Amino acid sequence: MTATFPDLYMPPRLLAPGTTPADLTTHHQRYGPLAHGDPEDLLRTVAESGLTGRGGAGFPTYRKLVSVAEAGRRTGRAPVVVANGAEGEPASRKDKTLLRLSPHLVLDGLQSAARMVGAGEAYLAVEDGATWLESALAQRTDDPLPVKVVRLPKSFLSGQASALAQYLSGGAALPTDPSPPVRERGVHRAPTLVQNVETLAHLALIARYDADWFRTAGTPTQPGSVLCTVHVPGREPRVVEAPYGMPLGRLLPLEGTRAVLVGGYHGTWIPTPEAAQLALDTSYLGAGVLAALPADRCGVTETSRILRYLALQSAGQCGPCLNGLPRIATAFRTLATPGPQGTTRTDLARWSGLVEGRGACHHPDGTIRLVRSALTTFATEIDTHAHGHCTATDPTPLLPIPQEA
Ligand SMILES: Cc1cc2nc3c(=O)[nH]c(=O)nc-3n(C[C@H](O)[C@H](O)[C@H](O)COP(=O)(O)O)c2cc1C
Ligand code: SF4
Repeated sequence: MTATFPDLYMPPRLLAPGTTPADLTTHHQRYGPLAHGDPEDLLRTVAESGLTGRGGAGFPTYRKLVSVAEAGRRTGRAPVVVANGAEGEPASRKDKTLLRLSPHLVLDGLQSAARMVGAGEAYLAVEDGATWLESALAQRTDDPLPVKVVRLPKSFLSGQASALAQYLSGGAALPTDPSPPVRERGVHRAPTLVQNVETLAHLALIARYDADWFRTAGTPTQPGSVLCTVHVPGREPRVVEAPYGMPLGRLLPLEGTRAVLVGGYHGTWIPTPEAAQLALDTSYLGAGVLAALPADRCGVTETSRILRYLALQSAGQCGPCLNGLPRIATAFRTLATPGPQGTTRTDLARWSGLVEGRGACHHPDGTIRLVRSALTTFATEIDTHAHGHCTATDPTPLLPIPQEA
């Protein structure tokens, strides 16, 4: 069977064909001007669209907008809006690609979100590309609210909502106590809307074309399209836009693969036969990463590399990260090394239970999700390692790890 993998899975919405960044004139030719209509009408439209966040958790955007607007009214403080372009997930490229090719779509969405919550300040937070975005902003002389571009430190955690809020308030880019949430008290203690840049780009299109148009892609329960970063060995990672409900097998070559990582480093390994039955779905898509592990590579070793990185990224502020993640990463390295494993597997199961749900942010929970899925998906390979062998024949690492030694 020969599979073909076209780069276009639907009429493009966020990423127009080609690789040329759109300046404001091209942007207006492509999408038309953004109308600054009645915020209440727009809120209703967002509710009808069923838009959910594209930053990882898939939270309904309408509900977040309403709660930030209400917190603003209740506290008498104008909310702050933050476009989250941190993209701390090393395997993801979608937000950087979107900001590079269609910055004005994100900036339109930021203005619309600001209007809906009655914001008094707006930020665009990025790790890369700040200069390019500042020149895009300079073209936008009609924006009602000025936007400040903020450069974030490179880290897996800096895009977590409370880390962003703390950084924008003058502190470290590290997660803080989840209570009260940033939507109640965030940047400089004002109610704060943190929205992924892709979510804002969809918002800009919903504001132009309405909820019914948005729902022409996707499924009735998961409307719209989503940007995914697709990793296939031997090819550069690709960013594609696809409708929810599309079979995974149309996006990735499943033939000759052992498993698929969906969602990124806080995601889930899925054995290929199961992945072949899956369609794009917010419940597991996380940051939109899809990676095919070929049959000649070792998923235990790959997971061990990721876990070491995740353990090093933790801020070490809470017990689960300080004590749990390094131990878990070390134990996994034992499983990745062919030879005796002793009680490592039962230790891992026990430590996972102790770590889960105990951090100030979801970093430990996301890490444990990856551990559990690897223990199940690669159970046979782990048995083989216990007998001193590994079935993989190609030691080339698959997924990117920043500053890997
Ligand atoms: C450890 C960690 C890292 C995160 N990093 C990012 C990130 O780089 N970009 C992002 O948009 N969301 C990130 N998030 C999710 C944000 O906290 C937040 O939920 C999101 O930006 C909300 O936007 P959305 O509702 O549009 O998805 C991260 C969450 C966690 C727990
Ligand atoms: S759980 Fe980990 S990453 Fe999250 S705040 Fe605590 S120490 Fe930091």
